[in-house]
Amino acid sequence: MGDYVFNQRHLLGLADYSAADIRHVLEQTRTFREILERPVPKVPTLRDKTIVNLFYENSTRTRISFELAQRRMGADVVNFSAATSSTKKGESLKDTIRNIGSMKIDMVVVRHESPGAAHFLTKCVPAAIINAGDGAHEHPTQALLDMYSLLVHFGRIEGLRVSIIGDITHSRVVRSNIIGLTKLGAKVTVCGPKTMMPPFVEELGVRVTYDLDEALRDCDAAMALRIQMERQDGALFPSLREYHERFGIRMRHLEQYPDFVILHPGPINRGVELQSEVADHPRALILDQVTNGLAVRMAVLYLLSGGSRV
Ligand code: NCD
Repeated sequence: MGDYVFNQRHLLGLADYSAADIRHVLEQTRTFREILERPVPKVPTLRDKTIVNLFYENSTRTRISFELAQRRMGADVVNFSAATSSTKKGESLKDTIRNIGSMKIDMVVVRHESPGAAHFLTKCVPAAIINAGDGAHEHPTQALLDMYSLLVHFGRIEGLRVSIIGDITHSRVVRSNIIGLTKLGAKVTVCGPKTMMPPFVEELGVRVTYDLDEALRDCDAAMALRIQMERQDGALFPSLREYHERFGIRMRHLEQYPDFVILHPGPINRGVELQSEVADHPRALILDQVTNGLAVRMAVLYLLSGGSRV
């Protein structure tokens, strides 16, 4: 990668990142993962930066992870949550960001229910924009932390067989993962009820199956996803119990297929996409994913701040 230069200004989605860009973020993540192991896991990298976290949708892990990443790097952090802001008084996203923008900010982390919201913000303020989830479109830092977790566990991504199971139509996590994993040479299978499978999904370069055993039989990693109830119009499956019986990963699968590891972006609905014992099983990398998420976000913040002081 001799002449490689990372020259992305924003992180709106992995669709805009080349395989080399993604590898570079994962490489930087390794550095920050090491920093997190230090007795004082802090660096002054973002000491002169001001960052706004703009959250219009609910979030636990992603919001805490971004904020912690920013504080560990010494940034000035402002948190905006739609539930307690003037959005409730009718202010538009554009007016909100323009007002925040006149306070001289360097970066904005945004989560919003509308696909394209992060892209829209790039037109409104001269700050680096990081997409923390825009509707059913993309959630790039989640896919990066998933890929980093796979990389650490398997030592490679190329050639890995990853099965993603659940609500394929409404999940932004699956979109970003399909884009990122296929760019790095993994073989992706998607599996879920027909009513949650988007048409033409094969065109994204994935294999499709409606049979969970088929998805698990020869995979290296299985990623279970939450059913995105908030993005569905009507009932797309008969009952949660039936969903669990057909698409929930259970202990019987771990016994029958002894090799694969389990990922889940959270929040988990125990007894739906994962049997509770599976979520807590040593083959589940779920809590490693959360720790790695912090390092991935530090790496992304560092790269997009244009800084050089690690
Ligand atoms: C995901 C999200 O918000 O898209 N959660 C997360 O960021 N950890 C997945 C989900 O909500 O199901």
